[in-house]
Amino acid sequence: MSSEAELIHVFKGIPFTTRSSPELLKSLDTFDAREDDVLLVSYPKSGTHWLAGVITKLYNTQITLTSPIEFGDISKLEELNKLSSQRIIPTHLDYNMLPPNFKNKKCKMIYISRNPKDTAVSMYHYYRDNPNLPTVDTWTAFFDLFLKGDVVCGSWFDHFLSWEEHKNDKNILFLFYEDMKKDLPKTVNEISLFLGLNVSENDIQDICKKSSFSEMKSDTEKENSNPSHTVCALTSNRKLIFRKGTVGDWKNHFTPKQNRRFEEIFNEKMKLSKMAKSLTYEF
Ligand code: A3P
Repeated sequence: MSSEAELIHVFKGIPFTTRSSPELLKSLDTFDAREDDVLLVSYPKSGTHWLAGVITKLYNTQITLTSPIEFGDISKLEELNKLSSQRIIPTHLDYNMLPPNFKNKKCKMIYISRNPKDTAVSMYHYYRDNPNLPTVDTWTAFFDLFLKGDVVCGSWFDHFLSWEEHKNDKNILFLFYEDMKKDLPKTVNEISLFLGLNVSENDIQDICKKSSFSEMKSDTEKENSNPSHTVCALTSNRKLIFRKGTVGDWKNHFTPKQNRRFEEIFNEKMKLSKMAKSLTYEF
């Protein structure tokens, strides 16, 4: 078992795994974006793989879904430079850490968020079973770390707020995991319009069918997965990603006292946030 110091380092105040090298993180500012790059942005465990699954099915031209831009060593940027096809690039970076070139070139970005209670629970299970992340003994211990932002990618609250500041930017589409659960065809249609893709009603239905939790889970179990080619890149164990895929699992983990504490902190941190009011915690 590796020690926490071997697994985690802090860059600009945010904990990263050592799989994101400090040299790469430092060099992100120099990254040369292309106008047709599409960024797929999320705080971890918000439905990134789901969204990536939908997006890759929407294109009928050649695209490459890369691993997250912040993942790897200094050779990563060169690797991305070499790709000749259109790039779909995931990232968990806060808005402030995003390579400025993506902003200057007004690249399209899709930000997916999920209610933070389910996100915390999903991340807890991910931590617990992933040898590339520090050991957490109990849900109670993880709950405290999550609230403090002492987890990979930092505070959920800061991440959400940093992106919300740009909610009126025309090149950013904001999506919610729970909306996808409620009405996937509606979200898929929204994504295809945003990306300027011409997709028929039939294709949308077909994409939704192929993007259901059970289909995606069984598809990835069949694949011979290579962690450097997946959105997550911290595990090759697909079971860690396709766990439950529901809304409201937090109720099976949060005690009433934890829930009150969460709400107190949430209300304080998100008091100026309009988008936080759109979050759904149960159906
Ligand atoms: P749970 O742990 O709650 O099951 P990410 O891709 O950002 O790492 O997020 C992982 C979460 O998204 C997991 O949540 C996973 O089950 C869920 N997920 C993945 N694919 C899904 C799908 N097709 N439908 C619904 N949820 C999905």
